[in-house]
Amino acid sequence: MPRAPRKEPLRVEVASVVPLKRAEAFSVVVDELVEALGRQGLVFVPGPKGTITQQEKPVGHVEAWVPKERIRLAWHPAPWLPNETTELELRFADAAGGTRVSAEHRGGADVFGEAGEVAGWVAGSALASFVANLAPAALGDWVTDRTARRPSGRRSRGIYSDPIFHRPNFALLLEVLELGPRDRLLEVGCGGGAFLQEALRSGCSATAVDHSPDMVRLARANNRAAVEAGRLEVLEAEASELPVITGAYTCAVSTGALAFFPRALETFREVHRALTPGGRFAVFTGTRELVGTPACPEPIASRVHFYEDAELETLARQGGFRSAEVRRPDLVRYAVALGLAPDVVDLFRSLPAAAQLLVAHR
Ligand SMILES: C[S@@+](CC[C@H](N)C(=O)[O-])C[C@H]1O[C@@H](n2cnc3c(N)ncnc32)[C@H](O)[C@@H]1O
Repeated sequence: MPRAPRKEPLRVEVASVVPLKRAEAFSVVVDELVEALGRQGLVFVPGPKGTITQQEKPVGHVEAWVPKERIRLAWHPAPWLPNETTELELRFADAAGGTRVSAEHRGGADVFGEAGEVAGWVAGSALASFVANLAPAALGDWVTDRTARRPSGRRSRGIYSDPIFHRPNFALLLEVLELGPRDRLLEVGCGGGAFLQEALRSGCSATAVDHSPDMVRLARANNRAAVEAGRLEVLEAEASELPVITGAYTCAVSTGALAFFPRALETFREVHRALTPGGRFAVFTGTRELVGTPACPEPIASRVHFYEDAELETLARQGGFRSAEVRRPDLVRYAVALGLAPDVVDLFRSLPAAAQLLVAHR
């Protein structure tokens, strides 16, 4: 009897040369994959015995783990075809300009049914998502998220561990808040926890919130002693839904983050709820004057919300605060007092109306 022709194994490959040496490319790609897959509901546990699971069900397991060279996973793309095991291999190879990183999936033709459907999947799922992610809206969102709106990655971890350009407004906020050991501080949009480091020196205790998992981990790591002593907790949450106890805080702060909050009024309501009567809320944000400067380049500039002074005061009052006042502080004197480099001080000097400080009381 003639045998049915074997289906050719389907191969799909994506590749790019990244400008990094092989060891670094390997570790960055693995770290970033863990994060990015996590955002899409896949849990990737890296390492020689690594696994990938989706809704706690196994999808793949590591069969070969050769650091700096390759990772091969046995893949189970279709639980409705339990015998269908495919292979997914990541490879790292020296190339002109850096390291060629590629991912190849082999097998799986049966999953698609008819042969013509393969082209449909390649175009509709693999290529379309690749092309859409390269189009302006997605790229602009990626850059904005990556650097400021939901920072992640090594570069952002470095910047938000020591945000030198934010130090003058940190000094201003500390002056306004007058923290002491009896204060319980709430920070919304804490980034890498650099402001917390300074605030905790007052002896206060604090809760900080950020929606970037990378920043939450960084803020904890940068304030490890306070976390271990039970003086600080850092929570991953949206600014408009604060997972904190009503009336638990004497003061609250948000710096460099309000412009990104999609539901700012809800954030004000939430902070108001979290404060004790008489509690103070200091918000530092930038004005439209920053657009086009290194502090607010495109594509970030067109993805943030700038507030007029009166609009900000109204927002706080609508959020329930009994008093709200906006000032336009001059940050030059703080930059000078901190001993920042002359070119950094000059940057603050060149933007005299760029700083906006709201002080509100519950
Ligand atoms: C420009 S960074 C400033 C970080 C820090 N406050 C500083 O001054 O270094 C803005 C921070 O706000 C956080 N953020 C933005 N939108 C948020 C939201 N809707 N909910 C919670 N956090 C948010 C980001 O993840 C990021 O860490």
